[in-house]
Amino acid sequence: MALSGTAASSDGWSSKSAFVLAAIGAAVGLGNIWRFPTLAGENGGGAFVLVYVLCVLLIGLPMLLTEILIGRAGGGHADAVGSVGDVAEKSRRSRAWSFFGGVEVLAAFLILSFYSVVAGWVLNYVLLTGGDFLSSLFAGAPLAGSFAGQSQEEVTGLMGALFESPGRMIALHAAFMAVTLGIVMVGVHDGIEKAAKWLMPAFFVLLVVITIYGAFEGAFAQAVAFLFTPDFSKLSPSVMNEALGQAFFSLSLGSAAIITYGSYVPKNVRLAPTAATIAAADTAVAILAGLMIFPIVFSAGLDPAAGPSLIFQSLPVAFQGMPGGAFMALAFFILIFFAALTSSISLLEGPTAFVIDRLRLARPVAAVLVAVLAFLIGCACALGYSTWSDVRLLSFWGIFENADILDSIDGITGRLMLPLAGLGLAIFIGWRADRRLVEVESGLSGGMFMLWRGLVAWLAPVAVFLILLFGLFPSLL
Ligand code: PHE
Repeated sequence: MALSGTAASSDGWSSKSAFVLAAIGAAVGLGNIWRFPTLAGENGGGAFVLVYVLCVLLIGLPMLLTEILIGRAGGGHADAVGSVGDVAEKSRRSRAWSFFGGVEVLAAFLILSFYSVVAGWVLNYVLLTGGDFLSSLFAGAPLAGSFAGQSQEEVTGLMGALFESPGRMIALHAAFMAVTLGIVMVGVHDGIEKAAKWLMPAFFVLLVVITIYGAFEGAFAQAVAFLFTPDFSKLSPSVMNEALGQAFFSLSLGSAAIITYGSYVPKNVRLAPTAATIAAADTAVAILAGLMIFPIVFSAGLDPAAGPSLIFQSLPVAFQGMPGGAFMALAFFILIFFAALTSSISLLEGPTAFVIDRLRLARPVAAVLVAVLAFLIGCACALGYSTWSDVRLLSFWGIFENADILDSIDGITGRLMLPLAGLGLAIFIGWRADRRLVEVESGLSGGMFMLWRGLVAWLAPVAVFLILLFGLFPSLL
């Protein structure tokens, strides 16, 4: 089967819908349910949401098509470096453009390391709420609220207890990484595609049920006002930088996942409508997640700017007072777990494809190598909540002064690396790549092609450059 020994040649999606489902699985994840509400809460709500949606529409969507296209046009390569290099070669340009593919692979690897730690927190809450639900069942009260009989402090304290036990955090991180690895080792068709086929429908059912439940039970109007009333005084280059980075993170751009998944797409699939479907689904889930979380945050009187622990502390408290809350809390954390898993699979697949293609290693060996290294970096992130809580990797850089290890890696990837890779590839596809090749692969023609190319060639580079410059170096202003 393995004709040339690359990741792409022996394996691939069985259909267009398999790709769409897997790509939505890659896009929808902790970024939507954990990172988006956290950032929106910290950055003033409506203003952030508005800039975020503009970034998705004007930069994210065009770049999503750009990256899928690079993946599919990139010859027999599945990895981001090889794909960009091939498109450059077909355009009679230097293979040096593949540098930006390399930035993507490195970013994916770093994101995977802390992503798995946060997914471990989710797993912790699956276990806690699962135990709680079982005990209410045995007590003959299946419709009890979550953590019945415990005070609000006790429930929010569950997060602190986890932060203080590095061993538990690392064990959960290891468990999550192992599940991710198990799926990626099996391969694209039998592993990644099958996982998405089962997990994504389950995810959507749970999402709809919990949102409807929350709309009946929480402070919905206040949440809507918070998320959709932009206070323009809150807009700063830093907020715009966060929003842009979040658009890349949430759509899985700048991090090898989309290029690699794109490389497994059959030639007859029209890419533009596919990209639109993926971006629309991802954005809808982020907004829905906001509408699911903030009613609960406000009705429980919690601080929307609480940071990374927001969803973990607010939701169990809110579910305390709700009928059937014990069951819903469990359902909620299972929902996030599924979403995180289909994303971490894509985070591991990008660097794995790189190792398969570059080092000519077999898939299982390559996947283990990447997962183990990412696991180790993740351990440092986990220890950053206890033993190494004083470590500030980026203390020399004003905007990251207070960032612990996890926040530093999250910040440097999200705010810098992903947009930077996007910037490079936008210039590459917009200006240097062969126009015919790009036009044919995109499947667009006439005005739509001009519009897309205009956004990629002009708007994306200029906007990303300015946002990076002033967001990362606010003193320049
Ligand atoms: N998009 C995923 C999420 O929102 C995270 C991710 C980033 C996945 C980059 C792949 C690549 O959770």
